[in-house]
Amino acid sequence: MSTGIILYKSKTGTTKKYAQLLADELDYTLVETSENSLQNILDYDHIILCGGVYNSEIYGLMMFERYSRLLSNKKVAVLAVGASSNNEMIITYLKEHNLTRELSPIPLFYARGAWIEQMINTKDKLRSLFYRQSPYREDPIELNTQLNQTETTPTNRFNWFNPEYLQPLISYMKETA
Ligand SMILES: Cc1cc2nc3c(=O)[nH]c(=O)nc-3n(C[C@H](O)[C@H](O)[C@H](O)COP(=O)(O)O)c2cc1C
Repeated sequence: MSTGIILYKSKTGTTKKYAQLLADELDYTLVETSENSLQNILDYDHIILCGGVYNSEIYGLMMFERYSRLLSNKKVAVLAVGASSNNEMIITYLKEHNLTRELSPIPLFYARGAWIEQMINTKDKLRSLFYRQSPYREDPIELNTQLNQTETTPTNRFNWFNPEYLQPLISYMKETA
């Protein structure tokens, strides 16, 4: 029987919630991404990396890059959790932006997360403002529309969390190679 591990990196908790659901459904070990956890991944046949999207970067993925050469005989997938809607343009953009070089053969799955103003730290709020105004940002316009909408809600809280987003990834991991 194959063994699996889910590594997640989350700032406001939504990716952690998706990672927990995946771990329950697939019966995989669940660990927060860190240098120590990455050193153990070679013990597993199936690996899922889950990370929140911050300014188009999948949180935690950079740390993983240096292990990527060792994964050729493993089944690996990435789950990105962002505020943008779930469409082909966003997924292609995130893949091209994050899964480069050795990581490019890894399939990317996407789940919509949440925008919970109260849980975002001041540094990230400032970064987000700068990023949205920056003429150098590459992010699709659609994301900026989504994020700007959140500023007009009375609670500054948007939650698109939905376990249904995980179905394609669960089916992929259950497929026999
Ligand atoms: C500073 C900042 C930048 C963000 N940048 C993006 C982005 O580029 N694309 C996106 O889809 N979502 C973006 N988001 C939304 C987060 O991806 C979303 O809140 C997600 O649920 C975060 O996952 P986490 O709760 O696991 O940290 C951003 C949020 C913050 C606070």
